[in-house]
Amino acid sequence: MPPVTTESQGKGTQRGITGGKASCRGSPRAGAHTGEGRPLGAPRCPATMCELYCKQDTLALRRKHIGPSCKVFFAADPIKIVRAQRQYMFDEKGEQYLDCINNVAHVGHCHPEVLKAALKQMELLNTNSRFLHDNIVEYAKRLSATLPEKLSVCYFTNSGSEANDLALRLARQFRGHQDVITLDHAYHGHLSSLIEISPYKFGKGKDVKKEFVHVAPTPDTYRGKYREDHADPASAYADEVKKIIEEAHEGGRKIAAFIAESMQSCGGQIIPPAGYFQKVAEYVHQAEGVFIADEVQVGFGRVGKHFWSFQMHGEDFVPDIVTMGKPMGNGHPVACVVTTKEIAEAFSSSGMEYFNTYGGNPVSSAIGLAVLDVIENEDLQGNATRVGNYLTELLNKQKAKHTLIGDIRGIGLFIGIDLVKDGQSRTPATAEAQHVIYKMKEKRVLLSADGPHRNVLKIKPPMCFTEEDAKFMVDQLDEILTVLEEAMGAQTESLVSDNTLCRTKMPKEACLELLSEGAPDQKENPSQKRNGLRTDKHSLLSKRLKT
Ligand SMILES: Cc1ncc(COP(=O)(O)O)c(C=O)c1O
Repeated sequence: MPPVTTESQGKGTQRGITGGKASCRGSPRAGAHTGEGRPLGAPRCPATMCELYCKQDTLALRRKHIGPSCKVFFAADPIKIVRAQRQYMFDEKGEQYLDCINNVAHVGHCHPEVLKAALKQMELLNTNSRFLHDNIVEYAKRLSATLPEKLSVCYFTNSGSEANDLALRLARQFRGHQDVITLDHAYHGHLSSLIEISPYKFGKGKDVKKEFVHVAPTPDTYRGKYREDHADPASAYADEVKKIIEEAHEGGRKIAAFIAESMQSCGGQIIPPAGYFQKVAEYVHQAEGVFIADEVQVGFGRVGKHFWSFQMHGEDFVPDIVTMGKPMGNGHPVACVVTTKEIAEAFSSSGMEYFNTYGGNPVSSAIGLAVLDVIENEDLQGNATRVGNYLTELLNKQKAKHTLIGDIRGIGLFIGIDLVKDGQSRTPATAEAQHVIYKMKEKRVLLSADGPHRNVLKIKPPMCFTEEDAKFMVDQLDEILTVLEEAMGAQTESLVSDNTLCRTKMPKEACLELLSEGAPDQKENPSQKRNGLRTDKHSLLSKRLKT
């Protein structure tokens, strides 16, 4: 794996750590104590220089004091990360991991410009937005400038969930209706109001779908109801939404909003076919509802050519409300809802104040502004296009080589690898995906598997990901798939059962976890082609864990 060097990143100045086994490796930390009340001098294991507790004690304390539904990555063998820089994370022993999944550390872990902005503002003032302050208005102005003109009014929040909850309130107040259309397998946040509209959650738990929620099929042209061989999948999927609206009306119900991620992340890295959103927006508007685009995962230039993923669908598509979060603060909790003046005025007409103690505070806004600057100054959108195309090209070569790879889909640095047991039936290779992510972890590459069948390897790294990183990642994947396919006897035994895999080649941890859960071809990215969303070749253009 390419070690972190002291070279600067792009035009930025991230530096300061040395490669491989770095400074935090060492003897027990002075003053370190044990978990569970054992006296100093009788540790279960020694903590290193960068730990308060040794890993075993951290785990024990976590089990004791943190709610059991708060899961960790690689539950059967969790990683303890003590620091990170750019696209690399380091465990307590100084082992370097290539981070392919962290879309929150958008401009790179611990980016110095972001840190500088945070510190500078923290030394001066942090307070709520009831006082006049320049940062919040400057940030709102800058964000609005990235969006179509009509999206000009911002409400700042602290998380994507808060943003989506507020978006629902705006829509319901604006239209006076209650019902929401959501996509199958969607996830929009952890608040009660969002679990209700997240089939990814309520479909798995004991919660039942509420009567005001309507679930439309995911516009997935690889595995969904209408596929790439359909003459017009965009219209076919949009007609499903139309049908839902008509049925709701027949039942005396009215639609307040349609909500969708511009590209579905947890649902399996799904890119809707071109034209789908336009048609849906038309039907939803006819029904007097509003269109909410959830850009919490996929915004801020991840797709390369465009700043917002919904913009890939063309200038004739403009949502009424856009929600954003994760990458905004590069790890600092800041999120936002942007809407039209008309919707904002309707919300205000209720007479109820909207107050959010931390939303848009001077520190969060300063950090948000620094993130925008870094994206621009380091041309991270250009990087997403270049590295994303290169990575997609490498992965498509792997697809030609490995029968386990059914589909490679993605745009910019948002890519999914759909693993299948056989290409014909597209049967999801769930156990194999778990095997791969654990094996990749052994090779110090962090990946996760998601989608309704947990068979889609998700790639959404910090935007400073390099071609060298891409090559390294793909080489490791190639080795793992080669060994796995050989073990499986790919041609004849492609229907090997999960248990067989567990008994044979699967890492013990992956097996436990599974059983316990019940480019250069810029022109021809197959999924973009399939979905009609080609990018201009010359332009710059688990599991249930989300990051
Ligand atoms: C698409 C989407 N929307 C909203 C959220 C909720 O964001 P948060 O976890 O910041 O509340 C998430 C989180 O994973 C998400 O993936």
